[in-house]
Amino acid sequence: MRLLAKQRLPGPIFHYIDGAADDEVTYRRNTQSFEQCDLVPNVLAGVEDIDMSVTVMGQKLDMPVFCSPTALQRLFHPDGERAVALAAQKFGTMFGVSSLGTVTLKEIGELISTPKMFQFYFHKDRGLNDAMVQKAKEAKFDVLALTVDTITGGNRERDLRTGFTSPPRLTPASLASFAAHPAWAVNYFLSGGFELSELKDYIKEGSNVSISIGEYFSSMLDQSMNWKDAESLRAQWGGPFCLKGVMSVEDARRAAEIGADAIMVSNHGGRQLDGSRSPFDQIAEIADAVGDKIEIICDGGIRRGTHVLKALAAGAKACSGGRLYLYALAAAGQPGVEKALGNLRLEIERDMKLAGVSKITDLNRDMLRWR
Ligand code: FNR
Repeated sequence: MRLLAKQRLPGPIFHYIDGAADDEVTYRRNTQSFEQCDLVPNVLAGVEDIDMSVTVMGQKLDMPVFCSPTALQRLFHPDGERAVALAAQKFGTMFGVSSLGTVTLKEIGELISTPKMFQFYFHKDRGLNDAMVQKAKEAKFDVLALTVDTITGGNRERDLRTGFTSPPRLTPASLASFAAHPAWAVNYFLSGGFELSELKDYIKEGSNVSISIGEYFSSMLDQSMNWKDAESLRAQWGGPFCLKGVMSVEDARRAAEIGADAIMVSNHGGRQLDGSRSPFDQIAEIADAVGDKIEIICDGGIRRGTHVLKALAAGAKACSGGRLYLYALAAAGQPGVEKALGNLRLEIERDMKLAGVSKITDLNRDMLRWR
């Protein structure tokens, strides 16, 4: 899927998905850390009926992996969030919509009836924050996830090098890269480009002006955000609430104290603080400390069914990921995302049988050995 995405997308857009911060050490480690841990399978366990469903934040999911919120999806494929939402619905799993989404919350709310998460960035403009929470409520979103690891933009050097902006700025270099990917360019311009659905009225220079994602983070997000703000937001939302981007045991404990239902243990797919630990490496420690008080989601690095099994055995309630469906979206739209989720489901089912477990709660720490 990644190779197909690379062929289809103009360079700056592919690298926006594929890239991460600084030397991308954390990005690579997010997946490699699963290789530092072995599964010890059990046999003769009667595994003809596999149940991989989980309930997380009150949402029943037919598979233990959901689609993390990611920005700008109509840039990757003209159907954007619509394609991912419909594919997630087909597999009975949750779809996360980003604050930087390119289809309105209202439209997504009308499109699918399966669980929906809205990912919230905390802006300086409190009017914008209130409007976003209100729109998510009106569109009947089930879960609000406050992203807490993006207090400023990560140093994404690939984006600096390619000059990536949203929407794409027309420069000689970007025009050359569009010309080299005519199918993408025709689709993009015929579908009318895109706008940041919930943000467009608030971007100061006007919705038709390109901004880099780094500029958005540094100019519009509130760096004074603290635990009190998170607690107030939880109260304002009133429904299932989660913090996305918690990595330390201490923060996991505080998340439980302010009444969050879940934490997404995440380093934003390696796109923020390079050199930070992988989510999988933190799961056991956090689960031991607060696993009985808050639900833990392992977000990032997941590419295989066995990765999911390991994260759940270590103590996560569910897993989530971005690139695991984003390359597929870029490669082939909704059928692509269905293929990616379908492959993952198939792998999880096969791996559960081979590991001798028929339901998710059978996975436990006894089945893991760290090298
Ligand atoms: C993201 N991610 C992200 N997170 C978030 O809270 N708001 C956002 O708008 C975005 N946008 C975004 C765009 C792209 C292109 C990527 C790759 C990621 C992070 C995302 O939700 C998730 O944490 C990571 O993608 C997890 O890592 P993997 O699964 O991609 O390895």
